Parts: sequence; structure tokens; C-alpha cells
Amino acid sequence: MKGVILAGGKGTRLRPTTRVVNKHVIPIYDRPMIYYPVETLLGAGIDDILVISNADHIGKYIELLEEDFDADFNYKVQSEPKGIAHGVGLAENFVNDEFVVLLGDNILIGDLTREMLSLDSPGAKIFVKQVDEPAAYGVATIDDGKVTRLDEKPDDPPSDYAVLGLYRYTSDVFDIIDDLEPSDRGEYEITDVNKAYVERGQLEYEVFDGEWFDAGTPEGIYKASKVVRDNRQF
Ligand code: G1P
Repeated sequence: MKGVILAGGKGTRLRPTTRVVNKHVIPIYDRPMIYYPVETLLGAGIDDILVISNADHIGKYIELLEEDFDADFNYKVQSEPKGIAHGVGLAENFVNDEFVVLLGDNILIGDLTREMLSLDSPGAKIFVKQVDEPAAYGVATIDDGKVTRLDEKPDDPPSDYAVLGLYRYTSDVFDIIDDLEPSDRGEYEITDVNKAYVERGQLEYEVFDGEWFDAGTPEGIYKASKVVRDNRQF
């Protein structure tokens, strides 16, 4: 299985820093943010990894990652920040069939195993976790062991299951992406991709037991850094 890390985007919630640096090099405690998703994939035995970022920053990731990890990295430029689903679409030539997408600002503390990444039947899988403030995320409604509904950052969340920035797809996702329309904010939304799987009755889910942080905000960076530091053996 291959892995895709999305490390582009505008980093709007981390301005002014992200006016001059890419979000995914900002440290989480003592290491660049992107090191954590790389380690999550390596921990699941995935070492064939495509890193997607914008043209201004991709060279920095080559410098950083080649030095510190023993993995087979590939790189691709996302020339415009047109959303997560657009970024996933850029992976089409890299993947064979089964692959995992991990957002470069998602810090997972706890094991992600190959078993958790398996599919029971053709389709896709999302990972969810109950949180106190689901309105900041994609939100999954789960009934009778099935995802029945997905909402992107809803004002009035129908459930407290946040959707992690971790997705398991096969190459059929590229047909779905080709048919997407941009959202009101002009981006191709990953939640719209996953909704297509809900409509087909093909979206599986897994509750992630470990700790999870979206480090795309100052608060997320602070909380993730604290937990990383607290877990560190000095
Ligand atoms: C994205 C997704 C959202 C998901 C989140 C996880 O949001 O659109 O569904 O819950 O990642 O980190 P973003 O943080 O890019 O706004």
C-alpha cells in the first residue's frame, strides 16, 4: 500500500507565520510538523510515500525528509491551493490501487496498524474520534454501525464524531474527484468525496483510539506539542 501526505494549502489559520513558511515545517515540540504524519505511515508499514506541496516549498521537504527518514519519497507540486480533494487527485499517477491519504497537519499519537487500514469490501474508509468541539471538523453521523451522513464544519453538529484527516481509498476515488464541483469557498472538498461513498453505501469507518490533533491552528500546535513533550523520554 502507498501513502500520500498533503502538505500544501494556505495555512490561513496560522498567519502571519504562513505568509512566509509552509505550515508543515512549523515545529510540533521539537520537530517539523510533517515528521509526525511520515512516522504514522512508517509505523503502519507504508514506506512508499508521495509528498504533495506547493512549488515554493517542495524543495524544503526534499531537504528535510531525505536526510532523516529511510523511506522511498516521491514529490509532487500542487500549483494552486484548490483543496484536499484536488490534492488527492494529483496522486493518480503515483498510486497503483490501494492507498492512504494523511493530511500533513494531522498528528496521531497511538498506533495505526495495517489491519485498521483494511477494507471489508470495495469502497473507502474514514477514521473518526469523539471530540468536544466537532464544529471545527468534518462530522460523521453514525447509525447502526454505518456512516449515514457527513457534514463539513457544520454550525450545529449532528454528532460529536470528528473526521480525522486520514483516508483509505482505492483508485476508484479518482473518478469521484473528476466529477466534483468546487464548494462555496472555491475548493474541492474531501468531505464531498466521502459523501459520494456514503451515497453508494461504501464508506467504512474506524474509531481512532489514540490521541489526535489537527495542528492547523495555534491551539492545535500547542496541544499536540504538549502531548509530544509529555510522552518524550528524557
Ligand atoms: C480538513 C477536512 C475536515 C477534517 C480535517 C481534519 O479540514 O476538510 O473534514 O475534519 O481536515 O484535520 P481543514 O483542517 O483542512 O480545514
